[in-house]
Amino acid sequence: MNRAASNSSFKKSLDALSVQSAAAESPFERRRVGKLVVLVLGVLGVLLLGRVVVYSEGGIQVSQLGDAVVWSSAQAKWGDVPCGGGDAAPPVDGAARVLVTGAAGFIGSSLMASLGARTANRPHTVVGLDSFNDYYAVSMKRARAERLKRDFGYDVVAMDVCNASMVEALFAKHAFTHVVHLAAQAGVRYSITHPMTYVHNNLECVVSLLDFVARREVQPHYVYASSSSVYGLNKKIPFSELDPITHPANLYGTSKFADEQIAGAYHNIHGLKSVGLRFFTVYGPWGRPDMSVYLFTNKIENGETITVFNHGDMWRDFTFIDDIVQGIERSMEYCADNAAVFNLGNSKPVKLDYFLKTLEGELGGPKTKIHYEKSNAEIKETYADVSKAHELLGYEPKTSIEAGVKSFMAWYKAQPLALRNDWAGGRFKGGRKRRR
Ligand SMILES: *[C@@H]1O[C@H](CO)[C@@H](O)[C@H](O)[C@H]1NC(C)=O
Repeated sequence: MNRAASNSSFKKSLDALSVQSAAAESPFERRRVGKLVVLVLGVLGVLLLGRVVVYSEGGIQVSQLGDAVVWSSAQAKWGDVPCGGGDAAPPVDGAARVLVTGAAGFIGSSLMASLGARTANRPHTVVGLDSFNDYYAVSMKRARAERLKRDFGYDVVAMDVCNASMVEALFAKHAFTHVVHLAAQAGVRYSITHPMTYVHNNLECVVSLLDFVARREVQPHYVYASSSSVYGLNKKIPFSELDPITHPANLYGTSKFADEQIAGAYHNIHGLKSVGLRFFTVYGPWGRPDMSVYLFTNKIENGETITVFNHGDMWRDFTFIDDIVQGIERSMEYCADNAAVFNLGNSKPVKLDYFLKTLEGELGGPKTKIHYEKSNAEIKETYADVSKAHELLGYEPKTSIEAGVKSFMAWYKAQPLALRNDWAGGRFKGGRKRRR
């Protein structure tokens, strides 16, 4: 991974060797040097076999020459390249100018609300943009945007990320220091029936925005949404950023993994530093109605049957929105000279049965009706290893599933009944029936 650092430690060993040789004069010393040469060559030989790991005193520095891995810092341990030359990510403070895409969405609006509620280091400018498409109820997106305007004075501009001339006009006005790109076509099941919308939103529009951002004279710090879905059918649990991604499960996850690769390409060509965040089943107040917490609650309330896939053998690492927002805000100040990725999860998977019981209990409504079904699109278990985010961002998820569901339900019940049902509608609902 860090080839340059690896080469330099190899070179240091050679330098040490030649210094020793030059100092050798007497036969006695020569014999000692000979032994030393044999020893050093032996050690190098073993290192070249690639199976020896040398721990230094600090316990952090590790060399493994065979795989060209040299951990010279906590960042490098995770495959990230430390920012050189005093290069830091711009701080999120009174001088920061932040662009949030997907701002009328669940995570985007929650991030803006959190930035707006700051008493210290409130950014100078926070502007949102959103296409307000009808994948799910536009009325819910409008309600989120209205709340941002009312409570924080923040605007959500109605526009498509793909519209480069409009993005350019926004940049001309605000010269953003941070771009948090959360707009995307979400949903695993919807990607089975509507593949091309993922190609458009998650590939075309991502390249359009990245290409603009990367060519700026002063590049903004770029943070974007990836997904736990990138892990696909990986068997090793919990999922770690160090795991190879080689078992795609559906087009949604594939499009998000492509986004990470594209960010890597833009680092290679344009030196753009970026942070991709692999979100794990985010839920909470204002949550998306196509996701299980809202969807199931609304179905239980209306006495509708809930379809559970994989015959109920499903585990999800439900992560509360406040914890996710904490992770995003920290990643907005994280500097690595590469395209970094982080898991943001709760690291405590919950079985679907237990989750449904918790929802039912908090709702205090009718008994849950469940229909079990097989599926090959849903993955059986998501479980985040969050040690990278913990070590490098100081990320610390704090919300238990019980506390999170309680908080969601308090918000849900505070909405008028007609709205709760209205928001549960949208294009995503028709997706399941139209099989080809
Ligand atoms: C971008 O947005 C502007 C203003 O709404 C519109 O006139 C233009 O047609 C859009 N361009 C594209 C490529 O959609």
